[in-house]
Amino acid sequence: MKDDVAVVEDKGAVREMLSGSGYSHKAIDYYLEQSNMGSLTDADQVSELTGPCGDTMKVYLKVEEGIIRDAKIQVLGCPGAVASAMVAMDLAKGKTVEQALEINDRDIVRILEELPEQKVHCVRLAVKALVKALNEYAGDNGARDTEEHHATV
Ligand code: FES
Repeated sequence: MKDDVAVVEDKGAVREMLSGSGYSHKAIDYYLEQSNMGSLTDADQVSELTGPCGDTMKVYLKVEEGIIRDAKIQVLGCPGAVASAMVAMDLAKGKTVEQALEINDRDIVRILEELPEQKVHCVRLAVKALVKALNEYAGDNGARDTEEHHATV
């Protein structure tokens, strides 16, 4: 445990290691900055998804008038999962729920530029987690489609 913390704190070493494994500098930046990591206390939707690899993502969406005003995500997963999740949240912000449902693996890979081939499924997990949250939000709110009746469950 102590060793893990030491490794994460040594960003230079992490960079070198990830770069050697096939991550682009951009992907490494997303992984290290973790700009969208966390939760939203006033989220309108919280959805969690665990992938076949056992990694888990929990998406928090703040939606106003059909537009995603804010999006955060908690990731228990590999660097590929973290980097992909950060991009997925960036892409979702400012879009309508319908537009965000169009976000796909290729959009994320294009932004990350390069990932090790065996990390492609991590991108998929980020997209699936986002889509699950969007569908659950739409399901909850579409059913009683009267103005701003957001579910508080
Ligand atoms: Fe599970 Fe990357 S190994 S998401």
